[in-house]
Amino acid sequence: MLKLGVLASGRGSNFQAIIAEIEKGNLKASVEILITDNPSAFAIERAKKHNINYIFIDPKEFPTKDAFFKRIADELKVRGVELVILAGFMRIVRKPLIDAFPDRIMNIHPALLPAFPGLHGQRQALDYGVKISGCTVHFVDEGMDTGPIIIQASVPVLPDDTEDTLSERILSSEHKIYPEAVRLFSEGRLEIRGRTVRIKDHPEIASNIINPPCR
Ligand code: GAR
Repeated sequence: MLKLGVLASGRGSNFQAIIAEIEKGNLKASVEILITDNPSAFAIERAKKHNINYIFIDPKEFPTKDAFFKRIADELKVRGVELVILAGFMRIVRKPLIDAFPDRIMNIHPALLPAFPGLHGQRQALDYGVKISGCTVHFVDEGMDTGPIIIQASVPVLPDDTEDTLSERILSSEHKIYPEAVRLFSEGRLEIRGRTVRIKDHPEIASNIINPPCR
């Protein structure tokens, strides 16, 4: 049973998607702790509803960003967390957390990286005028959305899309690929070779791309 620690700053719908797969029995994992940097994050309500422990860690109480991330790492370690899930955690992770969990931190990003990193990936895609965007699950390194890519899903950008409609379409793919990436990790099937993540025994996504049906 893989022990997860989830970091979220807001709504937590990706957190919910992972909880759902665990509860359905599709993912052999347990969420040991939700850590948030936002005391009004809706993710907290989800944790309460599913009897998951949560803590709010206030970044303002720490002299440096590194000290804040060291505290997060300590809270995860003390609970035996094996994989850290960033689920809408709106901060760049610093070295003390990365060093505590090497190749053990995942993030979801609402664009096809390396396109449109950082904030508002969906708006960036619309502003650029791309016809296809999507989402990416990747391991976290010290850069912003730069770590090795695990799974991506493509999503069409439609002519009348607004930021909201595109975000919603991308989000439904996020909810599929994030639990899938965690499941592959839990089964020991992800192998990092340089920048490339190989998925063992997974012919249907050998290219690391899942293409959900267009709507
Ligand atoms: C998701 O769309 C996620 O991809 C994005 O924030 C949203 C969180 O939603 N993350 C980033 O933009 C990170 N750069 P959620 O709280 O409902 O899971």
